[in-house]
Amino acid sequence: MPIGNDLAQAKTLLEQGQLVAIPTETVYGLAGNAWDEQAVLRIFETKNRPTFDPLIVHTCAVERIAAFAHVHEVAERLFEAFSPGPLTVLLEKKASIPDLVTSGLSRVAVRIPRHPLTLSLLEQLDFPLAAPSANPFGYISPTTAAHVADQLGNKIPYILDGGACGVGVESTIVGVDEGQVTIYRLGGLSVEEIAAVAGNVVVQVNQSSNPAAPGMLKSHYAPRKPLLLGSIESLLAQQPSTVSIGILSFQDDYTHDPRVVAQEILSPSGDTREAARRLFAAMRTLDVSAATVMLAAPLPEIGLGRAINDRLARAAVRE
Ligand code: TXA
Ligand code: MG
Repeated sequence: MPIGNDLAQAKTLLEQGQLVAIPTETVYGLAGNAWDEQAVLRIFETKNRPTFDPLIVHTCAVERIAAFAHVHEVAERLFEAFSPGPLTVLLEKKASIPDLVTSGLSRVAVRIPRHPLTLSLLEQLDFPLAAPSANPFGYISPTTAAHVADQLGNKIPYILDGGACGVGVESTIVGVDEGQVTIYRLGGLSVEEIAAVAGNVVVQVNQSSNPAAPGMLKSHYAPRKPLLLGSIESLLAQQPSTVSIGILSFQDDYTHDPRVVAQEILSPSGDTREAARRLFAAMRTLDVSAATVMLAAPLPEIGLGRAINDRLARAAVRE
């Protein structure tokens, strides 16, 4: 399947209503013309995604948002501080956005991704791009073109290769409700960074029935093998002697345990940004390793640690 950095080809396909996988600083997206209902429908079908889970709309500049959504003052301030970057803001949509994009909600999620190839593509297009993460629904998000090709390669006509994603977890989703800034999805922009600009911030995630973010389902980002989350020492103590274990750790080494057949250390130096950048690739590596069960420990709840812990909790097995 074709992978490359041919912007002209990506542009032509998108103008024809086809889908193209695009690189962003967070994860790869599966993009289509946000104004074309048929293209949007194709996105849902290709990902096998339920249509009650709305899509994020991508553009290259704040001035372009007025063509499809109402930009209020707080949103302008946030975009000015953090865009292009891993920030998504919920804004009242205009009629140019099909209801299918927002799953019937009145607000559309808007983001300006920080990747030179994709920004240049967006500049050359006269429509914004609807793009969910380019993975089959429920699986781990892709952070390289090869991840996209592994799972959707035979279903899409082109993958724009922009290298490995620099941030590695999805954008932070923010809404402003009567002046109150609310974070609906923890992501690549930390709570601390947003609070520094917006003041008091409320975090409202982790509810499977959260009406403002219907896509934040309890089981998501899930590997095929069971992932157990907790203290790795105690989890190891509970495992039988014959099992093959994969370890996903923040800093520590567990290979002294003979049952450990695979191990991914996210950041030996304890840097939550490095850990976020490596998280999804590490989960994929463990998922195809000889291990039959994965053990992971939560990170400190600071910086991108919160977003990583959110992903680990959704990936973990639930009783
Ligand atoms: O970093 C990202 O945001 C990546 C890249 C490709 O931009 N995109 C991404 O899209 O993560 P996706 O579809 O995997 O996740 C979008 C999330 C879903 O949880 C969805 O429910 C929520 O955004 N969402 C989208 N539109 C919404 C809306 N109008 N109101 C509330 N939540 C919305
Ligand atoms: Mg996703």
